Amino acid sequence: MDMKLVFQDAAGFQTPLLVVFAVDASIGKDAEPLIALLTTSDSITNAAASLIASDEFKGTLGEQTILYGPSGLKAERLLIVGVGKAKTLSVDEIRKAAGTAVRWAKPRGIRQMAIAFPEDHALSDEHLDNLPCTLLSRALVEGAMLAERDWDTYKSDKDKKDRSIEGLTVVAPSAEESTTREIQLGFDEGRVVAEAQNFARSLVNEPSNILTPTELGRRAAAMCSTKGLKCEVYSTAKLQELKMGAFLAVAKGSVEPPAMVVMTYEPQLDKVKQLPKDAPVIGLVGKGITFDTGGISLKSAEGMEKMKYDMAGAAAMIGAMHAIADLKPSVKVIGIICSAENMPSGTAYKPGDVVTAMSGKTIEILNTDAEGRLVLADGLHYAKTLGCTHLIDAATLTGACVVALGMINAGLFTNDEDTYEHFSRAMRVSGEKFWRLPCTDDYRDMIKSQIADIQNTGGSRWGGATTAAMFLKEFAEDTPWVHLDIAGCAWNEEVKPWHPKGPSGVAVRSILEWVRTYSS
Ligand code: BES
Ligand code: ZN
Ligand code: ZN
Repeated sequence: MDMKLVFQDAAGFQTPLLVVFAVDASIGKDAEPLIALLTTSDSITNAAASLIASDEFKGTLGEQTILYGPSGLKAERLLIVGVGKAKTLSVDEIRKAAGTAVRWAKPRGIRQMAIAFPEDHALSDEHLDNLPCTLLSRALVEGAMLAERDWDTYKSDKDKKDRSIEGLTVVAPSAEESTTREIQLGFDEGRVVAEAQNFARSLVNEPSNILTPTELGRRAAAMCSTKGLKCEVYSTAKLQELKMGAFLAVAKGSVEPPAMVVMTYEPQLDKVKQLPKDAPVIGLVGKGITFDTGGISLKSAEGMEKMKYDMAGAAAMIGAMHAIADLKPSVKVIGIICSAENMPSGTAYKPGDVVTAMSGKTIEILNTDAEGRLVLADGLHYAKTLGCTHLIDAATLTGACVVALGMINAGLFTNDEDTYEHFSRAMRVSGEKFWRLPCTDDYRDMIKSQIADIQNTGGSRWGGATTAAMFLKEFAEDTPWVHLDIAGCAWNEEVKPWHPKGPSGVAVRSILEWVRTYSS
């Protein structure tokens, strides 16, 4: 989709479809909706006046109404999209409303469209007051570009596939130079971020017969080479050399060899600006299980096909590196992908086995389906040996996290308050939802093993997301670390007006913003 930004009056913009957002400014739970269009254009407001007077349009988030041949506008159609209550309005609603507009247009064969940049109508309206222009602009572009994706790569019906939006123009008002600069900055960032997130989503969408660990390594390497990042892809021999006994144990049940991808971003600094000697080095570690059968502790057949998305943590890290390469923060970042296929076979690891991780810790395997933490254990330790001072991992790690939080919030665990503070700042920009769960040392006893240093599950269902985090914490040790359990949020199970079913690309935006908080 070709994205453009113009500064002019939206009413005079010639397009098959112009979109304007509408907020419900009513106060109180039972109050009648009070619709306000987020535009300063009187022509647009007039064109929609009788519709709004009809009380049919309530302004709820994702609600859509179309007007054909709106009078006084150059556009052929005017689409009004609700953003919900003014009181709770955030950039996230703008992201979703922009997506809704794109997904309204796509199946109707509309190729070109425009969105009126959201603005408050009169001086008395303050719906957007606390929402900076840059973030509004960025969210709008992200929402539109994310919504444009349909997962039809493997459909042969070309007619349907061709229904994509070719061009989208954001029509912003001509304003002071500082404002137009902010809008342009958000627009540019939005494109970079959405492209990266869509890249992650396209990896997650791939079936495991196509996206093997080797292929994941190839695609990461190809991305790095286009973006100018250093990339190394290793397999069994290197894992053996590094004594990654936990990672190797998971991999050995499959005929597909494992892949460990190491992507490095080095900031290009000029002579004036040197990074201090103790500057942070950020390590991103992703779980890349391209298919999780559970191994010898085999999963039941129902829903097992979903386990192709067990590499969504890895995809999030590859997506984040994609955006980092474009946005060039002043901080060194190393992305490590631990990819394998978890299979039952004559060569598979078994419950009761004891394996030795790269760090030297011994692990008793109680359940071969708790494989993600094993590959990450070696990935986290390796990141530290490469000099990482701050770690983050993302993984579709536990069903227990989905039981706890459902599919709205992903789980967040950390061993360091300051790092959590940085991540909270990141979430405010990304609009993604992570809910903090505990991983304090009083849970440590739950992963004590009778015969080894630790065991790979808590032994019962209780606190399953936390025991998994406790296991990872053994390998992060004192290094500040955040663990994101994205099992419930990596795949959209429901269709929404702004997205289809399929991969969400969750965590790309938050990880990117978290990294940027360390940029000097
Ligand atoms: N990949 C799964 C977790 C998962 C569940 C991801 C649902 C996405 C949706 C993980 O490897 C797993 O199987 N975890 C086990 C751990 C248990 C054996 C301690 C689980 O959650 O049941
Ligand atoms: Zn598993
Ligand atoms: Zn898994």
